[in-house]
Amino acid sequence: MSEIKRLVSGIKPTGQLTLGNYIGAIKQFIKYQDEYEMYVFIADLHALTLPIEAKELRNNVKNLIAVYLACGLDPKKVTLFRQSDVPMHAELGFIMTFNSYIGELSRMTQYKDKVSKIASNEAIPTGIFIYPTLMAADILLYDADYVPVGIDQKQHVELTRDLAIRFNSRYSDTFKIPEPLTPKIGSKINSLSNPLKKMSKSESDKGTIYLLEDLAIIRKKIMSAVTDSGNEIIYDPVNKPGISNLITIMSALTNKSIENVVNECQNDNYGVFKKKVADVVVNELSLLQSKVNDIQKSGIIENILQEGSYKAIYEARKKLNKVYRKVGLR
Ligand code: AMP
Ligand code: TRP
Repeated sequence: MSEIKRLVSGIKPTGQLTLGNYIGAIKQFIKYQDEYEMYVFIADLHALTLPIEAKELRNNVKNLIAVYLACGLDPKKVTLFRQSDVPMHAELGFIMTFNSYIGELSRMTQYKDKVSKIASNEAIPTGIFIYPTLMAADILLYDADYVPVGIDQKQHVELTRDLAIRFNSRYSDTFKIPEPLTPKIGSKINSLSNPLKKMSKSESDKGTIYLLEDLAIIRKKIMSAVTDSGNEIIYDPVNKPGISNLITIMSALTNKSIENVVNECQNDNYGVFKKKVADVVVNELSLLQSKVNDIQKSGIIENILQEGSYKAIYEARKKLNKVYRKVGLR
């Protein structure tokens, strides 16, 4: 009998969402919701890993949920909730930390990256060290089959597997062993100002399109995107990374293949093509922004989160009770 697979993912509410997040992650989720049973949560505890203003965090959470709903994530199909509304995440996180080794956490690339950026006379926050154990709890609480993540998070899912296997062999079968799920296309939208680098909050403002920013600024950013030598619309990410990035964006937003986009625009020069890309992006984001606005005004967010948290708590409590029994806390 084939059962529906379960998919769990969290999004950290730090910073503003970008077009890269939209194409690489959010649009994928919308597709998955018809195929899988999904648990999607706002990883607000994870946002505390590094210092963040309370007001900013609150605002990010609100925007993030509204964007997800506006993009078409359907709360009837997906259990959508806020991590901190389900205390079992923190509780299982604690147990997971106690079942982990300093050596394995020290080997996490993200941790090493972050530490390398901290000056030698500055303190290293413990959060960046132990946060993968909280992430493991997030996943293991719900018996996830798959965890959709970017390449950068794959190692944390592998750690989750190790922790689950260790717990199962120490205390008997308790957790399902999850697998990471990384997208095939659109998994890397590049910066408009430096098309060899990933579009990200930290790369550059000029090269990054924010989903909720002013539409005139978005148009301007696309019109001044760095392109390559020549003037033809050719898809060649190695030799023509600038124009290829714009072709990828066009293809992802119109749901046309790269080949179709190139064929349709073969008579354009860079200027004409950029204008077409700008029209498509501005059109899509204009619609999105007005939906986000309506959702924020409608007051439905709190209700949706409350329903989501009831369902999540029910599942999470069952799993945590089992864990507590096995380790001797019950
Ligand atoms: P982050 O904003 O880095 O926390 O990433 C959140 C999600 O968006 C992850 O699944 C990333 O893989 C995805 N993502 C972030 N930036 C990009 C990008 N430039 N292109 C494609 N996907 C991205
Ligand atoms: N750590 C992830 C990130 O930084 C966010 C996250 C937290 C997550 N818990 C998760 C992702 C569980 C997938 C599953 O982007």
